Order: sequence, then C-alpha cells, then structure tokens
Amino acid sequence: MTADDFQRTDDRFRNLSSVSGSRVSPAAFDTPFDRTGTGSSKWARAAVAEAIPMGLADMDLPGPPAVAEALERRARHRAYGYTVCDPTGRALVADWYRARHGAEVDPDWVLLLPCGPRTTLRLLLETVRKDAEHPRAPVLFPTPEWGGFAQLCRAAGLPYRELPLRLGPDGYRSPNGPFPGRAAAVLLSSPHNPSGTVWPTDHLRGLAGWAAEAGALLVSDEVHGDLTHPGASHPVAVTAVEPAMRRHVVTLNSVGKTFNCSGIPSTFALVPDPGLRARLTDTMAGYGLWEGGLLEQTVQRAALTEGGPWLDALLSHLAAARTRLTDRLGPAVRSTPRASYLLWLDAAALGLPPATARAALLERCGLEASDGAEFGPAGAGSLRLNYALPTPVLDTVLERLDRL
Ligand SMILES: Cc1ncc(COP(=O)(O)O)c(C=O)c1O
Repeated sequence: MTADDFQRTDDRFRNLSSVSGSRVSPAAFDTPFDRTGTGSSKWARAAVAEAIPMGLADMDLPGPPAVAEALERRARHRAYGYTVCDPTGRALVADWYRARHGAEVDPDWVLLLPCGPRTTLRLLLETVRKDAEHPRAPVLFPTPEWGGFAQLCRAAGLPYRELPLRLGPDGYRSPNGPFPGRAAAVLLSSPHNPSGTVWPTDHLRGLAGWAAEAGALLVSDEVHGDLTHPGASHPVAVTAVEPAMRRHVVTLNSVGKTFNCSGIPSTFALVPDPGLRARLTDTMAGYGLWEGGLLEQTVQRAALTEGGPWLDALLSHLAAARTRLTDRLGPAVRSTPRASYLLWLDAAALGLPPATARAALLERCGLEASDGAEFGPAGAGSLRLNYALPTPVLDTVLERLDRL
C-alpha cells in the first residue's frame, strides 16, 4: 500500500466481508428469466410487443446468488451514509487476476471507482487532456467500435480519429502503426465490442508501442475480458506489455458486464503509473467521486470472492449459445466471437437491406438488434445481436431466424 492520500482508509471499515454459500444451479440459464417490473432499460426500449430485444449489452440471465445475498445482508443494516474504501478490495482484484488470468497485478495499481466504465473513460480522457503536452492531439480508436468512444470524445470536446480495422478470413486484425503525429490516447475495447474478438498479445504490444511513440496513453477497455469463452485466453494489457511500457497503459474492467450488475455502477482501473493514479483521483474528486461506494464495494467483493463458479457456468452457456447461432448464421458472422455475448453480422449476407437492416430484422423476425451504424462509419451494413439469453428464448430466436 502506498502513502498516497487517496488510498487513505478507515480500518474500522470491515463490514463487507464474509459472504458465504454461493450455489449455482446448472439449470439457472435454462429457465426463462422474467425482468418485468425491474425497470430493465433493454426491455423498456423494446419497440414492438413480442419482439425479443437483443440490442443493449446486458444479459437476460440471473446474476450470481452470492451478489444477491451480499446485497440483502448489507441492506439489512440501515447505515447508508457515506462510505470509505476498504483497501482489501484492491488485493481482491489482484487475486482475481492471478486466479482467472494468471496475471500479476500489483494491488497498488488498483483504483476502485464508484461509477461505470463509461464515466471512468470520460474521467481518464479529461485527466489525459490536462496532462498533455499537446492538448489538441486526437484520441484514436479502431472501428467498428461500440459507440461510447466517439460519444465520449464528442461530449468532452476532444478531437478523435477512427482507425479502420482490417477484416481477414480469420476475423478482425488490430490496426497497423505507427500512427502519424501525436495522439492523446488510444482506446481499445479488448475483447472487442462488437465482434467478441480476443486480441492476441503481440497485437496489444504493438499497439502499446505505437501509442507510446505518439505520446499517447493506451486505454484498454477490458469490461468483456472476464467473459472469454472456454479455450480462449485474454491478455490483460497492463501485464501483457513490457514492464517499461506499463506507465503508458491503463486497463479498465468492471464486475458490471461480467456478473450482470451494470445497474450498480462500478469500475476497477489498473493504473501502474502512480502519478497518473493521483491525477485521476483528483479529477474524480472534482466530480464528487471517491473510491469506495457502498453498493459498489458490496457487489464487487461478493462477485470477486464467490462469483467464480457462477461465471464458469455462464461461460459454458454463452459458448454453447454462440455455437448454435454461428452454425445457423454461417458466413453472415463477420468474426466468430471468442468472448462475451455479442454477434457482429453482415446484414446483406442475411438477405437484409443493409441501410434498413435493423428495421427489416424486427419486422420479419421480431428480433431487435443494434444498428451497426452506431458503431462508426465502419459499422454500416452490420447488426449486433446480444445472445446472452436463457435457452428457451434462444430456441425461439433460432426459430424466428428461419423467417429470414
Ligand atoms: C466495451 C465497453 N466499454 C464500456 C461500456 C460502458 O459501460 P457502462 O455504460 O456500464 O458504463 C460498454 C457498455 O456496453 C462496453 O461494451
């Protein structure tokens, strides 16, 4: 533990530990999961009655029992005032990386943010811009890419440039460098949203090197990184690069996507550079954000200490669902996903008119996808389908796809 004052803690704060008895029923993902009355954004937005919403990236699957139990237990104590950060949460993150990825993360690198990955990205970009020798240097990111990167840059008034990904016979390949001129940051979703591509370690290292040459921070957004399917392995950017390169790299992750609890915003940022950690903490404080939110810590601790068996069961379920869909959709799948629960499809290969594919899929099949145009110009003519569904719903999806 460093003496940085943002890591100050209250040793009396030890009330979040010891959740017990996590049980995972293998049938949990084979039973319809009714989200009615929970305010689900995905279902509230569903345009047409009877349509199956397969857009927004959360799962129509029940989360880990351990998280529910920890929330119930914590809620029973009616102290809901301001909280401080329990520093053992950092060690839990490091333990998680060692156990799940064989990656050695120093607990001192870990910042536990009480906000979602999107907000964390915005805070990081703001910090980087303040730091930059060239504050007008652009933010770079590969496309197609989940719409958040472009949206965040526009909202922050930051210039950005898209780097088109090359699509080969084996799927997407990361962009070539070196990058012309200076850059403020390079953003990468790793694994890739929308295609579920797991970037190989050498691609990541290449990107980190080119980012450093351009004076940029590589921000590896790894919120889908714990969702790599059985047999695939995900390189954690801050540990995959050479030690000398680490101060130019940040990894972002969250239990939100992994354990399907994005409604309780949280992120953990792995920031090896202590100066950048301190500056990011200052930026957070400017928005009234400090490490150690009440619900965020409760959920994170339960998920990381007890969520492993649930996650393993989930990953088997997702891999089986992926195989059923990719077998059915064949060449329309632009790149076979090796992580997460998103399928990136070529609308024309599905027999849909590329410009109006989302509406056509909804009308013909009652399936609501995300429109590829939301993923940057490189996404035009594509659709993204979220297949984190209970088995009976996936059966219905496959039947409906016969109407194509
Ligand atoms: C790669 C990636 N990063 C960040 C986010 C943003 O997450 P949130 O909106 O929970 O902050 C998402 C959401 O889909 C995502 O897929």
